[in-house]
Amino acid sequence: MKVIRFAVSLPEDLLETFDKIISKKNYPSRSEAIRDLIRANFIEQEWTEGNKEVIGTISIVYDHDTRELLDKLMDFQHHHHSFIISSTHIHLDNHNCLEVIIVKGKGKDIKDMADKLISIRGVKHGKLSTTSTGKELS
Ligand code: NI
Repeated sequence: MKVIRFAVSLPEDLLETFDKIISKKNYPSRSEAIRDLIRANFIEQEWTEGNKEVIGTISIVYDHDTRELLDKLMDFQHHHHSFIISSTHIHLDNHNCLEVIIVKGKGKDIKDMADKLISIRGVKHGKLSTTSTGKELS
């Protein structure tokens, strides 16, 4: 892959802020930090477009004592099986469970599914993390 160098003009204080942030995050160079920013922006765009194939994880925390909720979550996942690659269930304590579900599909379908899952009554917290299939990233 050909690498191109280019110059960027920035206000001094913006560059200072940027350098402080990337140093805290342990970036070896500005170039690597900027590449990551561009990739993050690209991934956000893929999700916004809605029709691109994307990958994500949905994490949910809930109380397993509610039997109806367990059935509901299981039915929901079976109904959306075509988007689900894998899921892991962790017993956090006597009551709370964490489930991490790896999902793949069109951005708009995944977002819609995540919204529906997270809003089910009894789910204490839920979060969709968005990432990329990596196919169009270098
Ligand atoms: Ni559990």
